[in-house]
Amino acid sequence: MTDPGHQSGQGQQPGQRPKAKRRRRPKRRQDRPASANQSGQNRSRQNQPKKKQEYRLARPVFLIGFMGAGKSTVARRLARSCGVSALDLDTYIERACGKKIRQVFADEGEAVFRQMEAHALREVAAMEAPMLVSCGGGIVTTEASRQALKELGFTVLLEVDADEAASRISDKSSRPLFQDLESARALCTSRAPLYAEAAHASINTRGKDVYCISRELRNMLEKEGVLCRI
Ligand code: S3P
Repeated sequence: MTDPGHQSGQGQQPGQRPKAKRRRRPKRRQDRPASANQSGQNRSRQNQPKKKQEYRLARPVFLIGFMGAGKSTVARRLARSCGVSALDLDTYIERACGKKIRQVFADEGEAVFRQMEAHALREVAAMEAPMLVSCGGGIVTTEASRQALKELGFTVLLEVDADEAASRISDKSSRPLFQDLESARALCTSRAPLYAEAAHASINTRGKDVYCISRELRNMLEKEGVLCRI
């Protein structure tokens, strides 16, 4: 027997589209009655939020690379997602001396800043709980800092070229060594061998966003046994 209600075109006016069949919405979990074999304990376990995997760092991780490589943003992002601590070395220096980096450059010059940077790097590396440390782009220019990067932790180079870096940096006034694109390109090229010397591993960041880079970094650190599940 045909169900009159389901006959196509029934009650339809010329030019009117046939009525679409109404589908029943599947019952949502909260609408469904608890089934006989679903114990209260099971149900309350299902309602609990999934426990976030926590990590610890076996040693300090240093992120290096040219200005605009995304070191601080990636360190913060990874730290948040893994429950470890991140520290920006430039901010650490600014707090220690009570001046902005550009002011240190203006008052004392680059050489003094590099000494402060090398000293801060060793201090941070010696802290009891290892951290994700984003370093200033020029940290590799002193032998003392390159040695510390190689010996005191796991150092990852975030590779970027000057052109892409320029497009990522919104405020160039805070970076005394990134003034015009031509000189930034030359600086980036001259530092390339120094970055390669100091790094244990590298990630090419070209065309990648912060989520993609931090995921790559996380996989790398887990594989290296530096980022450990707890
Ligand atoms: C510098 C990079 C800056 C900062 C300072 C010098 C450099 O840090 O340390 O302006 O010599 O490349 P970011 O790489 O975080 O911009």
